[in-house]
Amino acid sequence: MRLSKRRLAAAAAFTWTTLSGVALAVSLGPCPPLGPVLPAPVRPSADPDVQAAVKSFEGSLNALTAGYNASAVSVAVKSIQEDEPFFSFHYTPPHFNTSDTHKVDADTVYRIASISKLYTVLGVMLLDGVRMDDPVTKYLPQLRNLRREPGEPVNEITTPDWDEITLGSIASHQSGLGSDLALELANSPGNWTELGRPALPGDPGPDCGGTLLLPPCTTSELYRDFGKHHSVYGPFTSVVYSNVGIGILSLVIEAVSGKSFDDYIQDTILDPLGLTSTFPSRPPSDTKRGFIPDTTPEMNWWDYDFGPWFSSAGGFYTSTNDFLTLGTAILFNKLLTPSQTRKWMKPQIATSSAGLLLGEPWEIFRADNVTADGRLVEIYTKTGDIWGYDATFCLVPDYGMVASILTAGFEAGSAAVFRLCSDAVRHLLPALEKAGKAEARATMAGTYADPATNSTMTLAVDETGPGLRVTDWVVRGVDVNANYANYANMDGRFVEGVDTPCRLYPRGLKAGSSGGGPQQLVSWRAHWDTGTPQQNAELDSGYVWAELDRVIYKFNTLDDVVASVGEDGAARGLDLRGFRVQLRRVH
Ligand SMILES: *[C@@H]1O[C@H](CO)[C@@H](O)[C@H](O)[C@H]1NC(C)=O
Ligand SMILES: *[C@@H]1O[C@H](CO)[C@@H](O)[C@H](O)[C@H]1NC(C)=O
Ligand SMILES: *[C@@H]1O[C@H](CO)[C@@H](O)[C@H](O)[C@H]1NC(C)=O
Ligand SMILES: *[C@@H]1O[C@H](CO)[C@@H](O)[C@H](O)[C@H]1NC(C)=O
Ligand SMILES: *[C@@H]1O[C@H](CO)[C@@H](O)[C@H](O)[C@H]1NC(C)=O
Repeated sequence: MRLSKRRLAAAAAFTWTTLSGVALAVSLGPCPPLGPVLPAPVRPSADPDVQAAVKSFEGSLNALTAGYNASAVSVAVKSIQEDEPFFSFHYTPPHFNTSDTHKVDADTVYRIASISKLYTVLGVMLLDGVRMDDPVTKYLPQLRNLRREPGEPVNEITTPDWDEITLGSIASHQSGLGSDLALELANSPGNWTELGRPALPGDPGPDCGGTLLLPPCTTSELYRDFGKHHSVYGPFTSVVYSNVGIGILSLVIEAVSGKSFDDYIQDTILDPLGLTSTFPSRPPSDTKRGFIPDTTPEMNWWDYDFGPWFSSAGGFYTSTNDFLTLGTAILFNKLLTPSQTRKWMKPQIATSSAGLLLGEPWEIFRADNVTADGRLVEIYTKTGDIWGYDATFCLVPDYGMVASILTAGFEAGSAAVFRLCSDAVRHLLPALEKAGKAEARATMAGTYADPATNSTMTLAVDETGPGLRVTDWVVRGVDVNANYANYANMDGRFVEGVDTPCRLYPRGLKAGSSGGGPQQLVSWRAHWDTGTPQQNAELDSGYVWAELDRVIYKFNTLDDVVASVGEDGAARGLDLRGFRVQLRRVH
């Protein structure tokens, strides 16, 4: 977990977006709103582009692991719409500790280190009556009494303002609390006075840690020692990765639920989702499904127990199948409500890297060059590294994509694992995008008409542009796209029409049709691209969100389009709310 910090630094250096890249992308095409621009594909495994991308990603993993002598690798990717992963790769090396698994597969259990934090934060969100805005002292008032170094005065530098530290600030690493308690040089081999650290003979360091054969730190050791450690920032100043902060969240869980942390996680997350290969602390020794690297007994981190509160920051174990089930459950709102999930899948704070934002406790990458239209796509990840185990859990909500990357051994390492998440996205996401386009071509593209009012709309899916292109839109004989400037101009003096490019984007709102029956109503919104390429580049698509829902007539908006969709997913008609006209699909 000490490595997690380094991992974050590496991640931040690996910037996926560049400001010039964004501007360039936008200047070449339309600016869609942030979020999905078409529904995610429902049958990606059957799509030829996805199948080709799977082959190429498999090739790159074969090449990566070809020389691995003692490291296991498991990578799998699935769509939440399908039961089985459309990509699976498992590598068993020639050498390993043979006391557990002998063949790596989707049920092999790995340590996941800091990805544990995801379960802890989810656990806090599931506590009855607890809000992420609550100060941590509402549940643990005793934090105010943490002991400082003898003789230190109480001030902003020596003492965190615990009453201002909220649960959410801890979850998103904005509490300013320092990183670690247990991971400590004083516990590591080495003569640190040679490097100028003071000897302090009468002043021992912690005699706990859970690693290097030390017992785990107890809660009383946390209260005894953590106050000696200065905060990095005041709350909400900036971000600093805090393992101890997450440990404190596990104490909140115990205080509120009255259960041990492990039991609470078992009862609220693991049992309800059927995650039988996920363990908050060391799996029972008869499980025998762990991959254990071949090392010396002292460096065998499979067995290290981080103890009562620190496990919540780094002590968990899981399998590929359980990771995929967890990701699917998250995106299907199995534990949280849909709004809670959507809020969770949002950044809370920026970092010093333009391409990396943080959530609770997501590490969110924004890529602007994975789809042909160059729009921003957000990738929600959590990484974890401890000695010998490196992993990444990766969600792309816009595509319903869940990726699990688990490794053990020293040949992979955190940099390779980070690259695997990026490689999975780069190989597979463009193919998912194409699969989504192919499905939308079948379900939505075509001509819709209402002869009684002389109205038509034609929708097309093009290779590169986002969403559905509105190639033709006539209502009551009037060309809508040619008159966009007139609708948007409130002075009522109509000018000669200039065709303004228009696209439809899904909004994610759905309802049963009012007439009952198998049809479903699905909301879309039109967006007209009014800027010249140069203006778009200068504004960096920043105004798109403010341009939606702007042209209103008798309470209905010009851009409001509701599709009625049959059981087969194909649209049967469009309700143009802004015109009070209903079109039926003619082909
Ligand atoms: C492969 O791993 C084993 C066990 O760790 C080690 O003894 C051996 O030297 C390694 N071989 C190579 C070629 O690295
Ligand atoms: C550590 O290094 C210092 C300075 O070189 C030396 O005085 C001391 O004896 C060393 N301590 C141990 C335990 O080796
Ligand atoms: C193999 O793993 C088991 C379980 O962690 C451990 O007890 C044993 O010491 C390990 N063997 C070696 C040689 O490290
Ligand atoms: C996206 O940008 C990265 C970093 O500049 C580059 O390595 C990669 O090749 C680009 N990918 C595409 C598809 O353009
Ligand atoms: C329907 O609208 C089109 C396009 O404006 C126009 O050319 C045509 O004459 C109209 N037909 C009727 C029957 O009004």
